[in-house]
Amino acid sequence: MLAAAAARTDANDPLSCLEVGERPDPQAPDGWATVRLRAASLNHHDLWSLQGVGLPDDKLPMVLGCDGAGVDEDGNDVVVHGVITSPGWMGDETLDPRRTLLSERHQGALAEQVAVPRRNLVRKPEGLSFEEAACLPTAWLTAYRMLFTRGAVKPGMTVLVQGAGGGVATAAIALGRAAGVRVWATSRSERKRERALRLGADAVFESGARLPERVDAVLETVGEATWSHSLKSLKPGGTIVVCGATSGQAPSAELNRVFFLQLSVVGSTMGTTGELAQLVQLLASSGVRPVIDRVLPLSDAREGFAALDAGEVFGKVVFTPAG
Ligand SMILES: NC(=O)c1ccc[n+]([C@@H]2O[C@H](COP(=O)([O-])OP(=O)(O)OC[C@H]3O[C@@H](n4cnc5c(N)ncnc54)[C@H](OP(=O)(O)O)[C@@H]3O)[C@@H](O)[C@H]2O)c1
Repeated sequence: MLAAAAARTDANDPLSCLEVGERPDPQAPDGWATVRLRAASLNHHDLWSLQGVGLPDDKLPMVLGCDGAGVDEDGNDVVVHGVITSPGWMGDETLDPRRTLLSERHQGALAEQVAVPRRNLVRKPEGLSFEEAACLPTAWLTAYRMLFTRGAVKPGMTVLVQGAGGGVATAAIALGRAAGVRVWATSRSERKRERALRLGADAVFESGARLPERVDAVLETVGEATWSHSLKSLKPGGTIVVCGATSGQAPSAELNRVFFLQLSVVGSTMGTTGELAQLVQLLASSGVRPVIDRVLPLSDAREGFAALDAGEVFGKVVFTPAG
């Protein structure tokens, strides 16, 4: 089958390690299903993998991709949940210390087919296209859990989303807006700030700019470059929800500010299959749809990786295996 895979890893030159070509079809063990993918989406995780983060040499070559939507062996249209728990794990999948994401231990979804545990399949509603559905399992699910589960954000609150152009960030803006939250967003790029406004942000600011008032919660995916601004932007008692650290993970913790203002620093990772099913239903009923920067045939995957690596993307890059 055609697939986009990491042949090697290189922290400084990830794109040189990407190979788009033929890979063996996946084998589904008992309790697993094979899905013929109609669409798959790219995440920053795929660039981390090419850099060797979470992908040791003994797992290479590895088909990349955490996100996909397609048709299972029984002809059902499905969305694939990419969190694979260890055998016998019960309960919240994101709390399994031995969980992995597709493309870490098991071959990923940037391919014509993927094998996953049957319980990882969520039915795709008719009104959602395969391309839209393929955007949901990582970036959108992460934003959903950050906002509603870990951040406990309620209608009427004000939330700041850092790095407005990212996959998680654009999802957070759209979902927050749909839920009646006042959404503010930052970006380094004027073009991305304008797009964030069109997407539903109530106000946008340059990265690091002083805000007109402090916010109830900050959604943080950027890390070191925006961390101090995130802490300064919170009301006393506010919450910073962090799921990523693209720009680095060693900012000053600013402990004086954390304890004096009684701030909560909350980590968040992916989401459960149940949350993915809720998210899919929310989109089906609300009409909210993922922002798709571009759709490319899988054979042109390199173009999408290069755009993400260069920071030229607003929303999600989607690949279609059938071209
Ligand atoms: N824990 C989890 O389960 C989970 C799930 C999904 C993602 N993540 C992590 O969350 C992060 C975002 O993921 P994503 O897929 O949304 O990535 P992405 O699409 O690559 O996000 C890129 C955004 O990050 C911002 N950014 C990057 N470097 C920056 C810098 N030096 N200063 C300011 N802003 C910067 C940019 O915002 P502007 O250009 O608009 O300023 C850019 O639009 C990644 O680190 C990813 O690994 C974690």
